[in-house]
Amino acid sequence: MTAPQLLTTVCATRAALERKRAGGLTVALVPTMGALHEGHLTLVRRARELADVVVVSIFVNPLQFGAGEDLDAYPRTLDADRELLAAEGVDFVFAPAAREMYPSGESETRVTAGHVGTLLEGATRPGHFDGMLTVVAKLFNIVGPDVALFGQKDAQQVFLVRRMLADLNLPLDLEVVPTVREADGLALSSRNRFLDAGARQAALSLSAALQAADAAAGEGLVELLAEATASFGDHDEVTLDYLVVVDPDTFLPVDEHYRGRALALIAARVGATRLIDNAAITIG
Ligand code: PAJ
Repeated sequence: MTAPQLLTTVCATRAALERKRAGGLTVALVPTMGALHEGHLTLVRRARELADVVVVSIFVNPLQFGAGEDLDAYPRTLDADRELLAAEGVDFVFAPAAREMYPSGESETRVTAGHVGTLLEGATRPGHFDGMLTVVAKLFNIVGPDVALFGQKDAQQVFLVRRMLADLNLPLDLEVVPTVREADGLALSSRNRFLDAGARQAALSLSAALQAADAAAGEGLVELLAEATASFGDHDEVTLDYLVVVDPDTFLPVDEHYRGRALALIAARVGATRLIDNAAITIG
């Protein structure tokens, strides 16, 4: 496999993709923040199936990190990432510097995620989803993909990107890829590399709680939350942030009378590392 071409400027990226589109080729974009793992690579493989040209963006977006979050500590492994992407037959890696994306520091103009952007992840991380949608909209405008791929691992992100596509009439398709897990259930995450052996074991509480929620879903919301919370248990090393069930069509919490398709969402802090996970369940 030839190594992907590295693009670092908006101008060169537009020009390279414009040539491909003029030749009648379709383009898939996989937006990432790097520190790539099998979850990202699963998106890339699906992208290869869906389009002629595959672009992976690698950009740790300062706009979606709050004060005191792990922007500086976020793992940056560009050389290793490029090697992994070469093995997947990726055509282009777009890895701009922050000043290329935000020449005047931060963009004043933002895409706002609205009410759902203030809930759950947005409640713990104010401004996170506005920053995420803003950079995703910029990436769509720079690359001009026919299809963009996102992981179900970040369910609220998927919901908000889908709604942005509809609300802003953006001309591309969204492809959502199921969460990739370790054999023992832990959802892959770039932040897992911060976990030592003990924390890695404790982190299994998240997927275990979701499995308990799924197993009890037939008995209704109250029972499933009780079972999931009991499964999560009390730990020294893991602190539960939220365990919530939402309606996938609105992303709003369901009440105890709700029946049908739902999403169980969990977030917890394992030591200094914040992890999220989710599972599709059917209540009632
Ligand atoms: P990042 O966390 O690097 O994730 C990039 C993509 O990989 C996201 O769509 C995410 O949902 C997906 N992904 C991560 N872990 C996964 C797993 N275990 N299984 C399946 N997919 C997984 O999400 C972001 O970056 C950023 O917010 C971004 C969209 C790039 C905007 O900055």
